[in-house]
Amino acid sequence: MTHDAIILGAGGAGLMAAAVAGQAGAKVLVLDHADRPGKKILISGGGRCNFTNLGVEPQCFLSDNPHFAKSALSRYTQWDFLALVEKHGIAWHEKTLGQLFCDDSARQIVRMLLDECAKGGVDIRLSARLGEITHADGRFHVAGHSAPQLVIATGGPSIPKMGASGVAYDIARQFGLNVIAPRPALVPFTLGAQDNLFKEVTGIATPATARVNGASFDEAVLFTHKGLSGPAILQVSSYWHPGDAVSLDILPRAAELLRDARRRMPRAHLKAALAEHLPNRLADALATRIGLATELGNASDATLDAAADTLTNLTFRPTGTEGYAKAEVTAGGIDTAELSSKTMEARGVPGLYAIGEAVDVTGWLGGYNFQWAWSSGVAAGQAIAARAG
Ligand code: FDA
Repeated sequence: MTHDAIILGAGGAGLMAAAVAGQAGAKVLVLDHADRPGKKILISGGGRCNFTNLGVEPQCFLSDNPHFAKSALSRYTQWDFLALVEKHGIAWHEKTLGQLFCDDSARQIVRMLLDECAKGGVDIRLSARLGEITHADGRFHVAGHSAPQLVIATGGPSIPKMGASGVAYDIARQFGLNVIAPRPALVPFTLGAQDNLFKEVTGIATPATARVNGASFDEAVLFTHKGLSGPAILQVSSYWHPGDAVSLDILPRAAELLRDARRRMPRAHLKAALAEHLPNRLADALATRIGLATELGNASDATLDAAADTLTNLTFRPTGTEGYAKAEVTAGGIDTAELSSKTMEARGVPGLYAIGEAVDVTGWLGGYNFQWAWSSGVAAGQAIAARAG
C-alpha cells in the first residue's frame, strides 16, 4: 500500500497528527520502535495524564522564538482538546492551577487517540526499526516504506529507559535543519557540599517562590537527598543554565513574622520562631544556616532583617541537574526558524515536518507540553491532508 505520509513516533504528537490527517483522507503510516503506543502518556500525571491546562498561553512556553508556538496553539486550543476528551466520554477534573487530569486513567487518552487514528484508517506499526532514512525523487524512504511526506514526532531524549531517543535531531541534521542545543528541563537540581545542611531535610516539601533568571514560580519545593525538586523547582529548571543561582522565598513576610515572634517570645531562639511556620527539621536547618546565636529578644532589628533576607532570598548554586534520566521534557530541539509555524513543515525541505517535543518549544509543568503535542500535531496533520488531497 502506498502512503501519503509516514509519521515517525506514536506519541501524543504523532498520533494526533496521524488521526487528523487520516480523517481528512490522507493515507498515513505511523512507525515506532516501542512495543506500545503513547508510553509517555501512560506514565504521565502519575498515571492520570495531565492532558492540558486551562491557562495555556504562549508565554507558558520556552523557545528561541517565543512567537513560534502562537499560531498552532491558537488554532487548536485546550478547549478543542477538552471537547475531544468529552466526546469520548472521559471523565476529568481540574487538580490545581488549571491542570486537567483524567478521573480514571491515562490509558483512556491513549485509547481515545487510537480510536481517532482507527477512524482515519491509520496504519500503526510498532517495534519498528527506522534504520537509514533516504530522500529521492520527492519521496522519503524509511524501514522499507516510502511516502512524499515525513513527520518527525520522535520526541526528545528525556527518560531514555522508556525508549526516548535523540533520533529527531539526527534526522533533522541529516536534512540540513539546525538544532538548538537540547538540555534536560522540568528536572530536579543537584546540590554540592556547601549545601549539605539541607540533606538533613530530605523528603520535606514546603510552599515557596522559586526564582531563576527572572522566571518565578509559586509552588511546592521538595528537598531531596541529591538536592532540590518539587513543582516550583522543576518549573525554574527550564530557565536555568549551569552556574546560575536559584533563589527561594521560603517564608514570605519573614521580617514582619520575626519581629512579631521577638515580641511574643523574646526568650525563644530563631528555630522556634521558624517552626511556627515551617516543618521542624527545615526550621532547624535554616536556623543553622542563618547562625543566630542569641535569644530573639537580644536580636537587633538589623540582625532580624538580615535573617529575614536569607529566608526570602535563600540562594543555592546547583552543581547540575539530575539529567535526562529524570527530566520530564527536553528543552531546545529542532530550530523553529527552520519550520513554518502554520504547518510545522521545514521551509527548506518540502514534505518534511517536525512536531511535539522534538521541536524547540518547551512548556511549563502542568499539561502544557501535551497541549503543544496536540496543537503542533493538528497543524501538521491538516497540512499533510491538504498536500495529499
Ligand atoms: P513522545 O516522547 O511522547 O513520543 C515519541 C515517540 O517516538 C515514542 O513513542 C517513542 O517510542 C518514539 N521514538 C523515539 N525514538 C525512536 C526511534 N529511534 N525510533 C522509533 N521510534 C522512536 N506533559 C504534560 O503535558 N502533562 C503531564 O502530565 C506530563 N507528565 C510527564 C511525566 C513524565 C514521567 C514524563 C517523562 C513526561 C511527562 N510529560 C507531561 C511530558 C510529555 O510526556 C511530553 O512532552 C510528550 O509526551 C511529548 O510528546 P511527543 O509525541 O512529542 O513525544
